[in-house]
Amino acid sequence: MNPLRAVKGMNDVLPGESARWQKLETAFARTMALHAFREVRTPYLEPTSLFVRAIGEGTDVVEKEMYSFVHRDEPLTLRPEGTAGTARAYVEHAVHNSEPVSRWYYVGPMFRAERPQRGRYRQFSQAGAEIYGDPGPACDAEMIDMLVGFVHAIGVHDARVEINSLGAAGAREKYKAALVGHLTPLASSLSEESRRRLATNPLRILDSKDPRDAEAVRGAPTILEALDAEDVRHFDRLCRALDALGTPYAVSPRLVRGLDYYTRTLFEIKGATEILGAGDTLVGGGRYDRMIEELGGPSVPAIGFAAGLDRLLLASAADPAPRGAEVFLAPLGEDSSAHALVLAKEIRGAGFACEVDARGASLKAILRRANALGARLAIILGENEIGEGTVQIKDLAAQSQDKVPREGAVAHVAEKLRGARS
Ligand code: HAM
Repeated sequence: MNPLRAVKGMNDVLPGESARWQKLETAFARTMALHAFREVRTPYLEPTSLFVRAIGEGTDVVEKEMYSFVHRDEPLTLRPEGTAGTARAYVEHAVHNSEPVSRWYYVGPMFRAERPQRGRYRQFSQAGAEIYGDPGPACDAEMIDMLVGFVHAIGVHDARVEINSLGAAGAREKYKAALVGHLTPLASSLSEESRRRLATNPLRILDSKDPRDAEAVRGAPTILEALDAEDVRHFDRLCRALDALGTPYAVSPRLVRGLDYYTRTLFEIKGATEILGAGDTLVGGGRYDRMIEELGGPSVPAIGFAAGLDRLLLASAADPAPRGAEVFLAPLGEDSSAHALVLAKEIRGAGFACEVDARGASLKAILRRANALGARLAIILGENEIGEGTVQIKDLAAQSQDKVPREGAVAHVAEKLRGARS
């Protein structure tokens, strides 16, 4: 029989790696708390129409990457990103009635049927946040600055920020027309995909990696030329706030991103290019001032971002292997197991991780396992020790062994391990 395998592009996180995930998620939650964001949890499954409406029909995500199916006549989709579902929840619960500004964050799996490669998976994790009710640009700058700090703190030292403005809807339409005007006479030199996009989603041509498209795009007008006075003022104030915060950034007038909902501020943070290659976008985000209204809510401005946790883990400096049990208990003989369980409970009560190896293996085998897992201490509980009310505590690093009274065992462990931790 062929062994069963995980779905292509969907990875297991085995216990050896999960401590790094937990550390990253804890660091993110801490950053969120410092900036007064509160966690929201929305379903992984949403009505397909939510993503079609919010993300846009002409996008790669909606056109080709969604895991969609019909269940009992109900079209459903595994969420490809978090912004649409979070906005749906905001509208559904009429949150604008109870608070003028909401700062929400989320962490969890997203699903896109993309071609898997390093840093690009079909199930991946995002840590994201959304602010509703603040038109910016101060909060836009605060968000970008916060993200640069976060990415640095987790060990990505070559982070680069790119920003752009797509303007309000008017500017986008005006720009689309100008771009189509520029590219139509060059259509025969465009890639097939871009020729198709000329009619469906011309802005995405700016993102194409095909050299034929790059050539045609080179002389194209930029969106910055299509912005109205209010858009320009918004963007200038964003730049000045970033300058004041000391956050370096590059204005990238051809940055468009793959989702249709953006208005005005748009940003990406790239980094760890030597590890991630072309897929080095760690964080992407922007303003989407029209989505809440388009989903049936009032007119509420919004901005948000999502960081790819899989990529951040690849990008951040490798951690030493996480610790398992600090103390291994080796009960020798059947009658010793219950004694070992009681002592283990006391040691855990004192705040130290421990494991009881009561499978009946030899002392040699237990010590080999304790060493392999990086435990600092092994406690041997044989019938002799139990009879005389003692335990043997073996310091695996120092290769020494002490016989101590049973009542003093936890204190002895604490003394040894506090020294080791400091
Ligand atoms: P996005 O650019 O589609 O934006 O994704 C954000 C980040 O998620 C990317 O920069 C990348 O790090 C990670 N990511 C995306 N696709 C994959 C994949 N297949 N495998 C691994 N990582 C991936 C959004 O999703 C928007 N919702 C961001 C946002 C929030 N805009 C406003 N609010």
